[in-house]
Amino acid sequence: MKLAIVPGDGIGVDVTREAVKVLERLDARRSLGLELVSFPWSADHYLATGETVPPGAFDDLARNYDAIFMGAFGDPRVPDMKHAADILLGARFQLDLYVNYRPVRCLDDRLSPLKGYTAADVDFVVFRENTEGSYVGIGGHFKKGTPDEVATQEDLSTRRGVERIIRHAFSFAKETGRRRVVMSDKSNAMRFVGDLWQRTFAEVSREYPGIGASHLYVDALCLQLIRDPRPFDVIVTNNMFGDIVTDLGAALQGGLGMAASGNIHPGRVSMFEPVHGSAPRYAGTGRANPFGAILTVALMLEHLGNKEEAVAVERAVAACVSARKCTSDVGGELSTSAAADAVCERLAG
Ligand SMILES: NC(=O)c1ccc[n+]([C@@H]2O[C@H](COP(=O)([O-])OP(=O)(O)OC[C@H]3O[C@@H](n4cnc5c(N)ncnc54)[C@H](O)[C@@H]3O)[C@@H](O)[C@H]2O)c1
Repeated sequence: MKLAIVPGDGIGVDVTREAVKVLERLDARRSLGLELVSFPWSADHYLATGETVPPGAFDDLARNYDAIFMGAFGDPRVPDMKHAADILLGARFQLDLYVNYRPVRCLDDRLSPLKGYTAADVDFVVFRENTEGSYVGIGGHFKKGTPDEVATQEDLSTRRGVERIIRHAFSFAKETGRRRVVMSDKSNAMRFVGDLWQRTFAEVSREYPGIGASHLYVDALCLQLIRDPRPFDVIVTNNMFGDIVTDLGAALQGGLGMAASGNIHPGRVSMFEPVHGSAPRYAGTGRANPFGAILTVALMLEHLGNKEEAVAVERAVAACVSARKCTSDVGGELSTSAAADAVCERLAG
């Protein structure tokens, strides 16, 4: 398996180093046949060379790699986020990674922030549409910098784009034995795209008679998720609402340091990254929790057909959390590197 590794900025570098450590440990013990190739694309690289991603790079990744692991992007020295847009959104859009897969599972009762609920009560999956919505960059300024300034940002949804993410959510539910898909939008206020999502959801749901299909406005979804997360199984939503709802989801699983994600195009090269950003204040301090990145390794291995190794990694992380062999954000005292070492020790056991 040939894997592209793009650590990126800030704590992206810190946690990717630890994710690679876990991959190398697994490879040494289980002979996965990994070839890891590191790419320097980041704010540092952009500021030093003026290059974000070289021409043809995504074609190379699509043709010659099995998967991509990315850390995080964002640096105060690049306020317009030019490099992040080219690298992260570039990968999502140019590789057409339309499924943003974000499982929300709480691994230890101690991490559940909800009074009266345990870890077992938090177990759902969010499918965020990943190539459309307001992230496509359609819009502009008029009379910028004047009192009459106008700014627009279009929210684009296509029938094809909406249909394929909704179908993916249902087909995932069917394959994994989950029973209910909730579609979330804001169709009471955003009527045109909302109408497209509503009609498409109703039509696709008819192809899956065994799976419950219901709808919640995204504001109501947020309220229900923290009131009682137990009824939720699979949630499908657009790019922006998925971005927001999965931060709420991360809070239900112990914080941003615990959340993993996959950017997937079934059958093609896909990209995996922790949900958190580059947290510049934490960079290089040893405080970043590597578990979101290590759980992302598990998602990537599962996607590549190494289910047994994926389960072993997740169990090792859960055991570390429960033994408080973790960083301070989840109740431990270990550094980024020591927390990952604790996972490696459990993988060896
Ligand atoms: N996928 C990405 O690359 C991505 C995602 C989100 C934000 N960003 C970018 O990252 C930069 C910082 O954004 P932000 O501060 O809003 O979000 P962030 O996720 O970087 O950090 C927010 C806070 O969450 C906590 N946190 C996040 N990850 C953690 C970890 N692994 N361990 C311990 N605590 C952790 C910290 O308290 C941190 O201050 C911005 O430039 C933003 O645009 C990038």
